[in-house]
Amino acid sequence: MKRKVILDVDTGSDDAIAIMTALLSPEIEVVAICTVWGNTALENTTENTLRLLSRMGLEIPVYAGVPTALSKYLSPERDVPAFIEAEIDGEVVKMHDDLFDLPAPHYAKEDLPAPFFYMDYLSEAEEPVDIVAVGPLTNLGFALSLKPDIVSRINSLTIMGGGYNVANVTGSAEANFWHDPEAVQIILDSGVHPTIVPLDATHKAIITKEEISKLRVSDNFCSNFAADLMEQRVLVHSEVQPLYLPDSATVHDALAVAALVDREVLQDVREVNLNICFTGAGEGHCVIDRREAPAESNCSFAFSADRERFVNFLIETFKNFKER
Ligand code: RIB
Ligand code: CA
Repeated sequence: MKRKVILDVDTGSDDAIAIMTALLSPEIEVVAICTVWGNTALENTTENTLRLLSRMGLEIPVYAGVPTALSKYLSPERDVPAFIEAEIDGEVVKMHDDLFDLPAPHYAKEDLPAPFFYMDYLSEAEEPVDIVAVGPLTNLGFALSLKPDIVSRINSLTIMGGGYNVANVTGSAEANFWHDPEAVQIILDSGVHPTIVPLDATHKAIITKEEISKLRVSDNFCSNFAADLMEQRVLVHSEVQPLYLPDSATVHDALAVAALVDREVLQDVREVNLNICFTGAGEGHCVIDRREAPAESNCSFAFSADRERFVNFLIETFKNFKER
């Protein structure tokens, strides 16, 4: 039986690759997609999601969520720009375009806001539901605050976010956690016990230009669109976020989806007690209890990943697209 999965995304280049990965994985049935602010404004992340699903010939319900952090932007001094881009040959190349160059969607988002969808769906769900959240965690933070008992209805929660030895948006934080640190803490305190796929894992599981060309061999819409997005990411990484292999890119969010299907793509997964910092230089920073006798574990945290296994998984999965 396929796993019923809800995706929570801020689409975004690697979010789009994650969405396609989930939709092309035979083990997964995506029952809904919730959108959130993050890589770009909520209306863009929602539009991008609808464009992508429409181009794939699908009509999976899309629930637009919360347009900003739960509390962070009540303190404007905590806001600094966090968009990643590079100037290449006089042209600005962004890690995430505001809008995808895809045709207009053939259907619209649902009326219900994402946090209310979570509350309704999870309260009524007869089968276990897995959630993969790869943007700021505002929607789930909101839903779990309003209706904490829905936690018992979540079979598993996989989160792309955070970093222990790696940061990307400030000297100490990863973008998704930095965007809404309070939401992360609400989730950690809810008892849901997520699997965290942080930068420590995603910066291991990178894809090279040569491997991206193998993805293109499938020559279908999804493999080519994913390859385009990855190549754009390679350009930006090479300029502003160099990785340990030349001409390569992270595909953060897709690793979280892959981990749901094949847990072995994650390595060095440890049970830890994690808390998030809210202010100052440590805003969004992951604090792991390092005492000899740490506080009880509240999440599983992946410190590494199996790069080859992940890349092969992507190449195989993207063969599955069929035009409808
Ligand atoms: O830090 C990586 C995360 O932030 C990913 O989810 C990516 O989409 C970016 O916004
Ligand atoms: Ca994302």
